[in-house]
Amino acid sequence: MAQNSLEDVFGALRRHPDVEAPNLQAWDATDRLLLEAAADHVLADTSVAVIGDRYGALTLGALAALGINTVRVHQDLITGERALRNNAAAGGPDTAPPYVGTGPKFEQLPLGKDLLTGADVVLLQLPKTLAELDHIAAAVARHAAPGAVLLAGGRVKHMSLGMNAVLERHFATVQPQLARQKSRVIMATDASEAPGPEPVPALAHLAELNLDVAAHGAVFAGAKLDIGTRFLLTFLPGMPAARHAVDLGCGTGILAAMYARQNPGSLVTATDQSAAAVASAWGTATANGLADRVSVLQDDAMSTLPDGSADLILLNPPFHLGATVHAGAGIKMFEAAGRVLAPAGQLWTVFNRHLNYLPALERLVGPTTVKGQNPKFTVAVSTKRPAGRHGRAAPLPPHMGG
Ligand SMILES: C[S@@+](CC[C@H](N)C(=O)[O-])C[C@H]1O[C@@H](n2cnc3c(N)ncnc32)[C@H](O)[C@@H]1O
Repeated sequence: MAQNSLEDVFGALRRHPDVEAPNLQAWDATDRLLLEAAADHVLADTSVAVIGDRYGALTLGALAALGINTVRVHQDLITGERALRNNAAAGGPDTAPPYVGTGPKFEQLPLGKDLLTGADVVLLQLPKTLAELDHIAAAVARHAAPGAVLLAGGRVKHMSLGMNAVLERHFATVQPQLARQKSRVIMATDASEAPGPEPVPALAHLAELNLDVAAHGAVFAGAKLDIGTRFLLTFLPGMPAARHAVDLGCGTGILAAMYARQNPGSLVTATDQSAAAVASAWGTATANGLADRVSVLQDDAMSTLPDGSADLILLNPPFHLGATVHAGAGIKMFEAAGRVLAPAGQLWTVFNRHLNYLPALERLVGPTTVKGQNPKFTVAVSTKRPAGRHGRAAPLPPHMGG
């Protein structure tokens, strides 16, 4: 394996547009271990697919070090997709091979047939939840080439025997490999899944809200109601009716659906960086007869919504960045809310009581009032500062026909 070029690729990787900080890295030892394990299975004509690449380490690393010319890749997060493209474009002749133009290429695809058909080797950064792993393993077993090898790697501290059990549901042979630098690869072969149509995502009925909730593999909280979201929903009757409301970081879209139901005159955008979340939110909206007023958008912190285009934003902010607890994820959302809210528009947010978010909300959005607290959570409303005499709401964003 061409060790030097791999070092060059890893050394040049950035997380941007995801949050960057000195303690947050764009690659980890699992990426290296997966690529080393893959070298034993890959020849020049081997078809390689990658799932769960964070910022491009696996895709660009495979192109640089495995002697192959194309890689198909699926990333759930739009921030990861954008980071991969940025990192590829930045890989000039001095740092890495040309990934665009006539050189080695990658294709970014949804999880499913187009990604996996004919793949001989699949490299997977193990996901956080068993539900997501189940979803991925089923897709690989169903679509990859006969005899395909799935190499699934993770940090040992985040791995569990439950992961082996999930893989065993879809593969007859599941072999954990030796751990190295606190990472481990599990090799799964002999798929036991019959090719067939994609399974329909789970729909669960939440009796306490009388709401049907759709949950695709990777989505936050599965089909359950998060306890912070439950608390925020108790304030729904006191929220103003907006022309355009946004459920920011929508997950399964429970907030979007409940707000739309409570406010029949409002249009609601449910947006998340995760493809699985957006698919789930769409499933939730349609299952509850709200598809005419709820639209979904996969985006990084509303980056494609125009300034001043929303009158109300609902937010249960993320607390983690990947496996790392980091306040930057929430701050990025507040900053985005400050930009996208129209003057006098409101951000309603729920967060753990111990988090000192109020100064950031005041600074990034505007005057902030605590609306309520329970033993675990605070709910606050921040009102966007007027933008002077000429401040007025922008037209609706293009995805809503504006
Ligand atoms: C705490 S969960 C809340 C999910 C849902 N609103 C609920 O109440 O169940 C936070 C959500 O924010 C999403 N998220 C994190 N960072 C994001 C970003 N930069 N842009 C958009 N969504 C993001 C995550 O994917 C996750 O679905």
